[in-house]
Amino acid sequence: MLKANSLPSLKEGAKRTKAPVKIDREGLYVPPSELNIGEGKKYFIRTYGCQANERDGETLAGILEALKYQKTDDFKEASIIILNTYAIRQNAEDKVFGEIGSLKALKKANPDLIIGVCGCMVQHESSIEIITKKYPQINIIFGTHNIQRLPSLIEQYLNTNKRVIEIFSKEGEIYEELPSHRDSNIKAWVNIMYGCDKFCTYCIVPFTRGKERSRKMEDIIAEVKCLKEQGYKEITLLGQNVNAYGKSLEEGYDFADLLEAVAKTGIERIRFTTSHPWNFTDRMIEMIAKYDNLMPYIHLPLQSGDDNMLAKMNRRYNSAEYKRLYDKIRNTIPGVSVSTDIIVGFPNETEEEFQHTLDMVDYCKYDSAFTFIFSPREGTIAAKMEDKTPMAVKMERFNRLLDKVAQYAKRRNEAYIGKTVKVLVDGESKKNKDVLSGYSESQKLVNFKGDKSKIGQIVKVKITGITSWTLLGEEVNE
Ligand code: 5AD
Ligand code: SF4
Repeated sequence: MLKANSLPSLKEGAKRTKAPVKIDREGLYVPPSELNIGEGKKYFIRTYGCQANERDGETLAGILEALKYQKTDDFKEASIIILNTYAIRQNAEDKVFGEIGSLKALKKANPDLIIGVCGCMVQHESSIEIITKKYPQINIIFGTHNIQRLPSLIEQYLNTNKRVIEIFSKEGEIYEELPSHRDSNIKAWVNIMYGCDKFCTYCIVPFTRGKERSRKMEDIIAEVKCLKEQGYKEITLLGQNVNAYGKSLEEGYDFADLLEAVAKTGIERIRFTTSHPWNFTDRMIEMIAKYDNLMPYIHLPLQSGDDNMLAKMNRRYNSAEYKRLYDKIRNTIPGVSVSTDIIVGFPNETEEEFQHTLDMVDYCKYDSAFTFIFSPREGTIAAKMEDKTPMAVKMERFNRLLDKVAQYAKRRNEAYIGKTVKVLVDGESKKNKDVLSGYSESQKLVNFKGDKSKIGQIVKVKITGITSWTLLGEEVNE
């Protein structure tokens, strides 16, 4: 039997009630014995996966800094290492297990090292079993609902010298006053809601992250105003499905209202992700077209272009509805770019059904697409579906899709040649230190020669060339 404060249960994690969402404004609780525990020591956090995880990683950093730990980018000099995990596909989990394995020697050499694993992956019973059986080097395991408990979990571990496991599988609360250390001082993530109630049949997220629960608009606006005052140029509003914003609140406002209120703060750039094609309202489109600081870029996950597949995935739209929405977006928002997510190899997908996805890519000619091979996630409906399609067939289809996606991405990029775009400069290009890099309003990665003093500013760049995934240009002063 496992000894734990609390263990995960996917079944419990998927339960939904009408209970009101609790908003906690108490701030971080630090046990008195932990107040200076990190003095003179360093922390290392490895975050895998999506933007929600990245934002959690920033909160974890803030919590560890409240205990006086300092950040390091070299895990070898850390006194505490946290792996902030992801569960959306099996290969994400494999990567984490690989990394956990490689930490064994480090723990052996330094028994005082504290290693923690948190996030979506450990919300799953089977991951806990694997970690407890195979990875004794892990000291603290906690889930998506209790990162604010980290100081108390560290205290418990240090007092008992026994592994601490605390995972809550529940609908979840909202914690407003937790500290955070943001990764960038130019661009910031802003959570607007947590969880997901859509239950797409392939997806584990509704099981691991609880029910849809929205932050109050006044809290979001206060955060955005504060970021603006601190000099942030861009914010991205985060939610698993931002269209559902406001549904859990009594106030009666929705995502379009939030977009308008955030636009009126005057912060220079506003993005959001992810918007489900279902319930994407006309008002949302109108707001994006109306306000210059709502960026003309929309991530609109397709998943499949086939109606039978979409129904089996529980996506709540069909291909004709998707096309109508897509056309409305392209026709209403000037200069908009659109990206998507596509899953290949959902159980028993036929060649004809797959062809409908290719047809949709031909129709939409996406600016870019994130493509995935279906990965069965234990606990989901799709994982129980019989699947006779061999992996080799799925791979062949996947490669055909990749080719098509690349072809349209290039074509969309080519259309920028000769145009001038506004780029928010992130920093030096990763590949070439003499080149600056940043994103256009329509979320195109732009590399150009320019002065380093421009980092953090919005500059005009004339596009002179392209590579497969980037635009190349020269700064102009027009
Ligand atoms: N297998 C493959 N891809 C998946 N995604 C979510 N769950 C799975 C799964 N089980 C993809 C979807 C989603 C993106 C974030 O990850 O395309 O939009
Ligand atoms: Fe997963 Fe669907 Fe929710 Fe997106 S909308 S997080 S794919 S269940």
